[in-house]
Amino acid sequence: MNRRTVLAGAVALTTGLALAGCSSSGSKPVLKVTGAFMPQPVSDMAAGFFVIRNSGGASDRLTSVTSPLSDNVTIHESKNQTMRMVSSFEVPAGGELDLERGGNHIMFMNLKQQPKQGEKVSVELHFEKADPIKVDLPVKETTHNPKKQ
Ligand code: CU
Repeated sequence: MNRRTVLAGAVALTTGLALAGCSSSGSKPVLKVTGAFMPQPVSDMAAGFFVIRNSGGASDRLTSVTSPLSDNVTIHESKNQTMRMVSSFEVPAGGELDLERGGNHIMFMNLKQQPKQGEKVSVELHFEKADPIKVDLPVKETTHNPKKQ
């Protein structure tokens, strides 16, 4: 191997490393929350809905939710008209986690107060990989359903 070939090889190697660096920064979840709301509660329980879009290259999981409104916030899956608590929801890479009326939701128990339409409830979403995200859920009328507008 002459000196020129060795140099060419070194250049190729450097370029390869730069590309690898680039794609490893793309293998993180990049999350954005939209369409958040809470139907005005009619008891000491409330539900919350939103969509989490993941434009990153790695999947993530919503693992817990905290809120000043309740010390007992859980994430619920709805199937065949019944709901049950789950430990996490997947937010797939390049996809979204959809919490919507009649489907999966977050559930607030033992509300410290009953928020009214027009108010906002702040929550913090916690993920397996991504940093926590703070979201304000606008309180909508009890029957509000964005899918039916
Ligand atoms: Cu529930």
